[in-house]
Amino acid sequence: MIHKKLDNFPEGFLWGSASAAYQVEGAWDTDGKGKSIWDDFVRIPGKTFMGTNGDVAVDHYNRYKEDVALMAEMGLKAYRFSIAWARIFPEGTGKICQEGLDFYNNLIDELIKHDIEPIVTVYHWDLPQALQDLYGGWENRQIIEDFNNYCITLFENFGDRVKYWVSLNEQNIFIGLGYLRAMHPPGVTDYKRMYEANHIASLANAKAIKSFRKIVPDGKIGPSFALNPGYPATCNPEDVLAFEDEEELNAHWWMDVYVWGEYPIAGMKFLKEKGWAPTVLEGDTELLKEGKPDFMGVNYYRTGTFEKNPLDGVGIGGFNTTGKKGTTQEEGVPGAYKTKRNEYLETTNWDWEIDPTGLRIGMRRITSRYKLPILISENGLGEFDKLEEGNIINDDYRIDYIEKHLRACKEAITDGVDLIGYCTWSFTDLLSWLNGYQKRYGFVYVDRDEQDEKEMARYKKKSFYWYKDVIMNNGKDI
Ligand code: BG6
Repeated sequence: MIHKKLDNFPEGFLWGSASAAYQVEGAWDTDGKGKSIWDDFVRIPGKTFMGTNGDVAVDHYNRYKEDVALMAEMGLKAYRFSIAWARIFPEGTGKICQEGLDFYNNLIDELIKHDIEPIVTVYHWDLPQALQDLYGGWENRQIIEDFNNYCITLFENFGDRVKYWVSLNEQNIFIGLGYLRAMHPPGVTDYKRMYEANHIASLANAKAIKSFRKIVPDGKIGPSFALNPGYPATCNPEDVLAFEDEEELNAHWWMDVYVWGEYPIAGMKFLKEKGWAPTVLEGDTELLKEGKPDFMGVNYYRTGTFEKNPLDGVGIGGFNTTGKKGTTQEEGVPGAYKTKRNEYLETTNWDWEIDPTGLRIGMRRITSRYKLPILISENGLGEFDKLEEGNIINDDYRIDYIEKHLRACKEAITDGVDLIGYCTWSFTDLLSWLNGYQKRYGFVYVDRDEQDEKEMARYKKKSFYWYKDVIMNNGKDI
């Protein structure tokens, strides 16, 4: 729809920015922290770009005050960060580590002191290695209990001050990359194991939300879903069907379960036929239905375009993790869909389609199907940045990207989408799990690279000043 006039961003809109523990904190074995599955995984040769790891990351653990001061200078209204499970429970369960609680208590207090709303992600992929070793992590139902216990600890310790919570960050990604593409720990390629682990993660998510209701009754919680809205490659009905299949298997498969506690029908039939369907035990559906979120967290970077794929067609492809444009491979699910390059869209150097309208389309789909508020928990542009003389970074391309996506948000709000906040990815530059330090997302440049940690000085990019202005005007000029 073309609106004559756009609605404004609502009062109290959460103008935010986001990060994740492993990508910023460093201090990987400090103050009693246990190992996470990423601490081991990054040490396997060939798994990450140039062997990069988060041992030191951007040293946020030691410099959080400096980082929060920059957030305050910007006028940021909300900061989304994640808690490292292995800082709280070094062994995943059992004994609590007080230093871990102290760190996050201090961070939360520092944010509140500067009127910045903390948005806490409970799980951003760094499972304690001890639980992986003990019983296979997400593949064992014991994790439902252990995750619940970890969440209860967080809710009880921080729930007095933290009112916005994200449960699982991108379950579709950490499960898909961990159990199918073998690009994340535990490095498995097995459809059946993937869907089983995914089901257990959904149960853990629901149980934690149930606990949240009792402990933080005035808070809001939801998962963050990696939303890649799909398009059919052509209006050939077979391509449209391929697109429907893709939405069924890649979007509804997760979001229907979060909101309705039920798997989509065609998707489930397809998986049963393949022998990949998860084991749904008595009581599972009931628990899933009890874990309905307050909002859908949306991490949005790109869209996908799909066409038909025969039964003997293309399967798992490869990612571009080098920033060398055009190195992404075609991929799909045989008998359902495969990817097609969208000729209407430009891409980043990592081959991610730049598609602000796709964000509006995705939010509209969620609103129509689930009728839930939306929190954009991540959106941003990963690019090479250049540190120029005088420590200046002219990232006009990032401003352009965010501005267009915010415009799409405004249009979506005008369409009737209940959007409560927008967090860019990310505030400072940070470690990209598979792409090293050269794929930068921040408003604040961190002076380090793959080979040299340097002093890790923080420099404000041009986008820093631009976003400051947007926040000050509540997005009125977007
Ligand atoms: C999301 C994650 O998938 O996208 C972040 O929640 C991640 O942790 C971000 O960094 C960008 O992805 P990438 O691969 O470019 O770092």
